[in-house]
Amino acid sequence: MEFSIKQSSPDKQPSGCIVVGVYEDGKLSPAAQLLDKATEHQLSSLVARGDMSGKSASTLLLHKLPGVAAERVLLVGLGKASELNNKTSVEILRATFVALNTTAAKDAALYIIDEGVGKDASWVVKQAAFSAAEQAFRADGMKSKPSKPAALKSVTFATLGKPVAALKNALDQAAATAQGMELAKTLGNLPGNICTPTYLAAKSLALSKAHKSIKTTVLEEKDMQKLGMGSFLSVTRGSEQPAKLITMEYCGADKKQKPIVLVGKGITFDSGGISLKPGAEMDEMKYDMCGAASVLGTMQAIAEMGLKLNVVGVIPTCENLPSGTATKPGDIVTSMSGQTIEILNTDAEGRLILCDALTYSAKFHPDTVIDIATLTGACVIALGHVASGLFSNDDKLAQELLAAGEQAHDRAWQLPLWEDYQPLLDSNFADMQNIGGRAGGTITAACFLSRFTKDYRWAHLDIAGTAWKSGKDKGATGRPVPLLTQYLINRANSK
Ligand code: BES
Ligand code: MN
Ligand code: ZN
Repeated sequence: MEFSIKQSSPDKQPSGCIVVGVYEDGKLSPAAQLLDKATEHQLSSLVARGDMSGKSASTLLLHKLPGVAAERVLLVGLGKASELNNKTSVEILRATFVALNTTAAKDAALYIIDEGVGKDASWVVKQAAFSAAEQAFRADGMKSKPSKPAALKSVTFATLGKPVAALKNALDQAAATAQGMELAKTLGNLPGNICTPTYLAAKSLALSKAHKSIKTTVLEEKDMQKLGMGSFLSVTRGSEQPAKLITMEYCGADKKQKPIVLVGKGITFDSGGISLKPGAEMDEMKYDMCGAASVLGTMQAIAEMGLKLNVVGVIPTCENLPSGTATKPGDIVTSMSGQTIEILNTDAEGRLILCDALTYSAKFHPDTVIDIATLTGACVIALGHVASGLFSNDDKLAQELLAAGEQAHDRAWQLPLWEDYQPLLDSNFADMQNIGGRAGGTITAACFLSRFTKDYRWAHLDIAGTAWKSGKDKGATGRPVPLLTQYLINRANSK
């Protein structure tokens, strides 16, 4: 999808479809008023007749209006001006692109950024770009007859006044972020028999081929053995697929500048291992690499933008399967940090691969480390599918991530990392056990990770509820690529 910004008049703008807003009280937006004049008041009479209510996110498609250069006009309901907020704005944008995609229009010009849709012009442009990309996304590439690609190929954000320079910047960022989300979605949706650890490693190497600013290295199991990653390796014992530890180093600033490290959980299929999961919906555990996919998507986005920042992506990736060689409940392993772990449940495997990857991350002398993981079902119970769970050992970092989530409309909600929860991980036989019981399951998982992140500023995002959708709309969401990318943009700007 191509995006651009342009000052133009809606009646004169040649386009497959132009989009203008109508309010619920029947008031036309300034762009719609110009169109109304050019069409001998067709729009206002249509509204007066009651054919367009202006209700938020309602749409009406009109063809070949005399006096209008564009082939089509899409009227979009903006609701009551006083009730426009981030949520309604996103709904309006979604409805706009759903409607545009029912037409054969190859390009569209949207006159919506002047309308106070969303927080500000930059916010709207970003959300619109995400929405456009979302509606153009196809998940059926593996069908023998995949659906046709979307007709809409180019979107212009048109303004009546002169667009400000900052908007162009926001649009470039949005386009790169949308592509990063698309990569994350594509990888997430791939089945476990295709998206193996080896496949993720190949994709990471391909990313560094496409972007000179990224250097990728892949460690094999024997390398991890040498590093003492007994915890990570315990998870892959039941699998025939070799585990990989991928690192992608993006250098966009002075080499001496400390990097931000992103660590993504890359379980390409989580059966639970010997602590086998129930069968219903187990297929969705192909999504257990969405943390890894979000790291890849974010790395691609920042390389595309050429952010002046150093960022390292670290991806521990393997399968979690049962077999005669698989790790058993009660087994005790030694992590790279030297701390020993009693594995009481082999289904709590994410923390076992992450803890070694987090210890390993210290070698980059990080400014900040953020891990991203589909870590706990309990997080879905706590926050549903709206917010990702956020934990941090540094309150300023937590605030920055929360703010980036608001800015990108990819929100997180902070949960406590209080010491009071730590005793739930006490083991009679090892330094800790890998589960803390049902109560506070998201928090005890984060507490487990916190024992491996004491030497640096760290945050943990539990994306179990936000990385994919179930049911009719089953599919990866590309979250939290927008949050992570926005955080990194903010960090680069604050330097
Ligand atoms: N990948 C799962 C978490 C998960 C489950 C995410 C369902 C989204 C939906 C993780 O590896 C897991 O199995 N966690 C266990 C932990 C428990 C055994 C302490 C869980 O959440 O049940
Ligand atoms: Mn599991
Ligand atoms: Zn898992």
